[in-house]
Amino acid sequence: MSRLKIAVQKSGRLSESSLKLFEECGIKISNGAGTLRVIASNFPIEILFLRDDDIPQYVEQNVADIGIVGENMVAEKNKNVEMLEQLGFAGCRLSLAIPREENYQGTDYFANKRVATSYPRLLGEYFKKHNISAIIEEISGSVEIAPGIGLADAICDIVSSGSTLLTNGLREVETIMKSQAVIIANRTISSDKRPVLDKLLFRIKAVKNSGENKYILLNAPREAISGICKILPGMKSPTILPLAEEGWCSLHSVVKEDEFWERIDQLKKAGAEGILVIPIEKMIM
Ligand code: PRP
Ligand code: ZN
Repeated sequence: MSRLKIAVQKSGRLSESSLKLFEECGIKISNGAGTLRVIASNFPIEILFLRDDDIPQYVEQNVADIGIVGENMVAEKNKNVEMLEQLGFAGCRLSLAIPREENYQGTDYFANKRVATSYPRLLGEYFKKHNISAIIEEISGSVEIAPGIGLADAICDIVSSGSTLLTNGLREVETIMKSQAVIIANRTISSDKRPVLDKLLFRIKAVKNSGENKYILLNAPREAISGICKILPGMKSPTILPLAEEGWCSLHSVVKEDEFWERIDQLKKAGAEGILVIPIEKMIM
């Protein structure tokens, strides 16, 4: 099998979670400090550690077959690549922010203002859509200090926890787009690499499913079981086992975690006791 080349962010918000994903897929990667190219020992892939800003281009040009990068970067770079799968990590938003003490009434605020950003394309589109004539100052990093040093009046950048804005005396006023990590692929992956990609995507989906789902066990009187099944509609054919105590059952099933938390009170009212919620390591659908 040919080796699939995967571009991953060298250092930043995406890197750690990207490597963790490979680990959860059972793929062993020993990334020696400073190495920019690593071959997995038990799966036919090669990881290239690159700047996230360059990943869409390298995937388009076939330097890498696929890449893990933020949707924000894919949208900004606008390269001809295929979006394969959202990964559910590195959630963030691209936002406009202004000095904290400024009065803000709406997007008219930005008329004739200088806005520093590394996302000139997305910001330009946004201003155009809202009919605002602002001046875009394109800079490649440390965008948040631009207002403080007199380089710009406002900024447009990635916000995750919000702590970078806070420490730089800025406040978020508009969201331009929401983003998370995705897998992008070259549009013409060779047929000898396809099976590797399919195998990898299969494992990634199993890891993703396991994160969203939990294994649930609970005890209930036999007559309460059908009511409990109605409260958790996502639960497919639960396993029901009799308990040693007469008239009682134990119910086992897989549920979406969100669904479970929303309905826990209803479950208890319906007679569920001794509820256990257990993480699932892999889930193959
Ligand atoms: C973004 C952005 C901020 C930081 C915000 O950088 O430029 O510096 O993250 O995160 P916070 O809201 O949690 O403080 P990014 O990870 O995109 O790095 P890069 O631009 O250097 O690639
Ligand atoms: Zn970057």
